[in-house]
Amino acid sequence: MKTITSVVEMKEWSRLHRKNGKSIGLVPTMGFLHDGHLSLMTRARDENDFVVVSIFVNPTQFGPGEDLDRYPRDPEGDAAKCGDAGVDVIFMPYVPAMYGPDFQTYVEPGKASLPLCGASRPGHFRGVTTVCLKLFNIVAASKAYFGQKDFQQLQVIKTMVRDFDMDLEIVPCPIVREEDGLAMSSRNAYLSPDERKQALCLSEALEEARKLFVGCETSPSKYLRVMEERIKREPAAVIDYISLVHPETLEDLQMVGDAAVAVLAVYVGKTRLIDNMTLGHNT
Ligand code: PAJ
Repeated sequence: MKTITSVVEMKEWSRLHRKNGKSIGLVPTMGFLHDGHLSLMTRARDENDFVVVSIFVNPTQFGPGEDLDRYPRDPEGDAAKCGDAGVDVIFMPYVPAMYGPDFQTYVEPGKASLPLCGASRPGHFRGVTTVCLKLFNIVAASKAYFGQKDFQQLQVIKTMVRDFDMDLEIVPCPIVREEDGLAMSSRNAYLSPDERKQALCLSEALEEARKLFVGCETSPSKYLRVMEERIKREPAAVIDYISLVHPETLEDLQMVGDAAVAVLAVYVGKTRLIDNMTLGHNT
């Protein structure tokens, strides 16, 4: 396994292999890797000649006052995990290599980026689309792997790839959870032991939604009430948003039918966690 920090070197490596007809699977990450990330790498390993994992804490997707400066990092641990997963290259650029002093062009995502996390974190998805476009180009990826954990991010990226006629495939991968149901996230490291217990309210609220769906409940307000009640049982939990949305448009549903995703963002103490559950998908 190689670690590459230079953009030029990464481009040379990837062009050489693509010219020889090899496929490259890219797993974009911000590091502090866990089993959720590893599931993406395993899938990429199965489906490509080469696997590149990018580790880059992307400053343009963090707003003022967010956790850019304290985002958890573990380069040695990450390298060991990538090695075990059969990764060929870790691409770990420095910030000035990605955003030079005269950097000035951003990708402006459209309506899928506006509600939910886009409303709570203005500019976040513009940073995500911009860095992903750069990574896709630098790595010349044939396929890129994204987790459904970040459901809106996945839709925004799919939309960018479609709108810009980009020549790569976005592969969605299922959410990986801890044994008790908490969705794995690098940010779980911020939780105190007590907050960690309370954080279970996210997945349990979604589980309540799933039960309503199985019982053919169609009224979004019923879902929202039940989920809200579950979350409000935890003293450290403050709801950012809860919504029942259409899986492609991310618009609020008037009626829960065949295509629905329950999405939520909740602060547990100071830590903002997100999770979601696909209830039905008819497209
Ligand atoms: P990061 O939070 O490190 O996540 C990297 C990838 O891992 C994303 O596609 C995310 O959806 C996926 N992932 C995280 N937790 C997961 C889980 N529990 N199960 C399945 N997949 C999971 O998302 C980002 O980084 C950044 O925004 C990035 C796309 C790298 C752009 O900077």
